Amino acid sequence: MTDNAGKYVAAIDQGTTSSRCIVFDRNGAIVAVDQREHRQIFPKPGWVEHDATEIWSKVQAVVAGALAKAGLRAEQLSALGITNQRETTVLWDRATGKPVHNAIVWQDTRTAALCAELGGSEGQDRFREATGLPLASYFSGPKALWLLENVPGLRDRAERGEIAFGTIDSWLIWNLTGGPDGGRHVTDVTNAGRTMLMNLRTLQWDRSILSAMDIPEAILPEIRSSSEVYGTALGHLAGVPVASALGDQQAAVFGQACYDVGDAKNTYGTGSFLLMNTGTRPVPSKSGLVTTMGYQIGDGAPVYCLEGSIAVTGALVQWFRDQLGIIRTADEIEPLAASVADNGGAYIVPAFSGLFAPYWRSDARGVVTGLTRYVTKAHLARAVLEATSWQTREVVDAMHQDSGVQLTTLKVDGGMTKNNLLMQHQADVLGVPVIRPKVSETTCLGAAYAAGLATGVWSGLDELKSHWQQDAAWTPSMEPGVREREHHNWRKAVERSFGWLE
Ligand code: G3P
Repeated sequence: MTDNAGKYVAAIDQGTTSSRCIVFDRNGAIVAVDQREHRQIFPKPGWVEHDATEIWSKVQAVVAGALAKAGLRAEQLSALGITNQRETTVLWDRATGKPVHNAIVWQDTRTAALCAELGGSEGQDRFREATGLPLASYFSGPKALWLLENVPGLRDRAERGEIAFGTIDSWLIWNLTGGPDGGRHVTDVTNAGRTMLMNLRTLQWDRSILSAMDIPEAILPEIRSSSEVYGTALGHLAGVPVASALGDQQAAVFGQACYDVGDAKNTYGTGSFLLMNTGTRPVPSKSGLVTTMGYQIGDGAPVYCLEGSIAVTGALVQWFRDQLGIIRTADEIEPLAASVADNGGAYIVPAFSGLFAPYWRSDARGVVTGLTRYVTKAHLARAVLEATSWQTREVVDAMHQDSGVQLTTLKVDGGMTKNNLLMQHQADVLGVPVIRPKVSETTCLGAAYAAGLATGVWSGLDELKSHWQQDAAWTPSMEPGVREREHHNWRKAVERSFGWLE
């Protein structure tokens, strides 16, 4: 032990395109970061898979990398927090620790028909009252069912108790705490709440849904709070308590200090996810949002959120770069878009995984509208960025309708918030200021906070709130008439995206 012993908290953020580990000090400031990408596997149109074994090795590598950059040893960490891409589904063999199939990623649409079948005469909202979610290919339960039905022999093995199900948090915690040799098979309420199998009120697996979806209870992890010691890590982090788990969007809520009713944040990653704290009771949505867990600290009361989930925002920039080759790096989009004054009449609706909130249309596919010979790649670059702000505007409108709360500012975080043009357009189309905190790595920060709370590093939410500092703000400057016209054009483009799949 050194003078530094116990002063740091590490968090692993296992995201859709990369894994990172960040070490924080007691003030919530970043000490070191390490990050690695993993492969995106697209076996068929609409299918997206990850290799969970590759993810586990990348996670081990970034943990070792962050500790080395920080010049710290495992015993100098007070706790480890986990945050993760949500809904992505892994089934693995408990004895060998090997996944039985690639993980099915949240963006994957293969279960669209299965979801329609499960809805039957009750339709998309069959499980909404119990789970807060519409039946959509986004969520994990139907993905697990697809695997049970399509991997030969899997159902029998699952019923014999040989198979474990997990979202990425469970997969990592199980591996971190020993894998086949005594690994803890747990998840937290925020991740369990995205499976469509957890009852929002009891915070337990819902037996009637398990039976409707034909999911054997034997495969499921134990549901725990988001902030408590689940077990002790082995390997690079030997001896460190694994003390938090939150889905990445909920971790961002926590890292952005959205602890009061009406506090909201929008995180711009692969997709964008706007969550508003609604307090200790779930608020049902009538406007196409989902009701979801915010966090639960130890045996404290669970906190709920309304969420507007947008499947494709940053991923549209990646597509523009990788699939169209119009830019070489994601950073090139801003100067290209800024080289023209407007979108030249072009709109892109990136319905690559159907459309999530507020439409929930699995029959939607991407469209580009308004093309004339006048339109250049610079106009398209603008349309790519504007797709993010308009999709956000639609979930903000839905949030207002559901909660009655009119946002007076929007707290933002995530990679795309360094794009000034986008953030200005976001403020313009919302008509309210957009503000970014100093620590924009709010996802890791939230997981670190929850882990540090469980191990006594921080005293409580007031202390965490005092860390939050503003870094940048954008105020609206668009003429209301222009905003209305652009909004109208965007809505017309969205309508064109519907109805591409029977
Ligand atoms: O629900 C999906 C979300 O958790 C993915 O987040 O940031 O990895 O794209 P991200």
